[in-house]
Amino acid sequence: MPSIEGIGARRAALQMLDAVLRRGQTLEAAAAHVHNLSPPDRALAVAIAGEALRRIPDLDALIDSATRQRLPDDSKARMVLRLALAQKIGLGTPDHALVATALPLVEGGPRRLVHGVLGTLLRRGVPVSDAPRLPAEVEERWLAVWGEQTVEAARRQIANRPPLDLTFAEDEGAQAYASEHGGVSLAPKHVRLESSSVADLPGFGEGKWWVQDLAASLPARLVPADAAEVLDLCAAPGGKTMQLAAAGHSVTAVDASQSRLARLRENLDRTHLAATLVEADALRWKPNRTFDAILLDAPCSATGTFRRHPEALYRARPRIIADNAELQTQLLATASQWLKPGGTLVYSVCSLEPQEGEQVIDGFLASNADFFLDTAADLPDFAAPTESGWIRILPGLLEAEGGLDSFFMARLVRAA
Ligand SMILES: C[S@@+](CC[C@H](N)C(=O)[O-])C[C@H]1O[C@@H](n2cnc3c(N)ncnc32)[C@H](O)[C@@H]1O
Repeated sequence: MPSIEGIGARRAALQMLDAVLRRGQTLEAAAAHVHNLSPPDRALAVAIAGEALRRIPDLDALIDSATRQRLPDDSKARMVLRLALAQKIGLGTPDHALVATALPLVEGGPRRLVHGVLGTLLRRGVPVSDAPRLPAEVEERWLAVWGEQTVEAARRQIANRPPLDLTFAEDEGAQAYASEHGGVSLAPKHVRLESSSVADLPGFGEGKWWVQDLAASLPARLVPADAAEVLDLCAAPGGKTMQLAAAGHSVTAVDASQSRLARLRENLDRTHLAATLVEADALRWKPNRTFDAILLDAPCSATGTFRRHPEALYRARPRIIADNAELQTQLLATASQWLKPGGTLVYSVCSLEPQEGEQVIDGFLASNADFFLDTAADLPDFAAPTESGWIRILPGLLEAEGGLDSFFMARLVRAA
């Protein structure tokens, strides 16, 4: 039988969506497990699965409105329908191609049902919300802590891919680059562009800049300029290591993952920056000295990165958030031992869960009387500390400019 054009990418998208939703993988990991795909097909499959992940509750409501039969959440029929509708909404795929590439995926299964639901929805017209719903448990959790406005903003943000943020090694040149390429600069060394292919942008090969969400660039900006020896814990793939090295600090970068450290090494090579790399579990590693400043960018649920990684909202089950909070508490306690008296410890997570941010810092301060929060406001105005003294970047901030990932960060100082 001749193969249907585009079916390979759709089959791969189905595998990816299934791996994310049923097995809790990241979309990147799920994509890496699909073999024998051309680069364009792989990119298309990731785009289709990613688009579906931005809108699952809305897509499911549409599917349920077109059949009386209750399709289980993880059934192949529901997955295929989600992918077809996501293509209609996000990629503008023509209806005949949607149907032609959806039906073979349920061959030997509920083909008639899928055909019927898809036909009904395409005839009715598929509405496109500019504020699709988040998974119900996430909305409930965030409504309770952050309120309606923030949830509304998060819904608007998940609808679209975010712009491309670059961090420059030198401030000189960043402003000119922004105006030359139709971008804006929202902080020193920062340039924001409409999304485009990174490798094609001028300056990539020379290592003048690297890709880093503006919010992710803030924690390293909290490290005092005069800190000579800086420990970057949980450092890979190294966005913050490069910032610290470019700012002139002598940096020791520690990470437990060999493959992620290899990416850090490549990043340093490309940008002509230097750091001492250590592959170690930060909970066991014992340095032979203490540091002037430490940046702990701890592993977390990553729910703050939902614009780029919408699947984070499905992976972050309460158990995972609680396990992360436990690990973060241990990492912070361990890191604090390696700080000189009078030194600065910056803690950050790209999470919207207070358990991984505010509560970790509250717990640490309660049992470490020699540490206090430093609230000096030396970040851009949009990232001013809250009344509690830490910095919380929420959905909705700088929305007109394209928004930011959500982050928590705190700068702690150890009494001299
Ligand atoms: C949020 S990412 C770090 C991102 C990085 N700071 C950057 O800016 O590119 C968290 C990192 O923590 C590392 N990690 C997780 N558990 C660790 C541990 N026990 N010791 C050291 N590194 C760990 C992971 O391998 C991962 O690279």
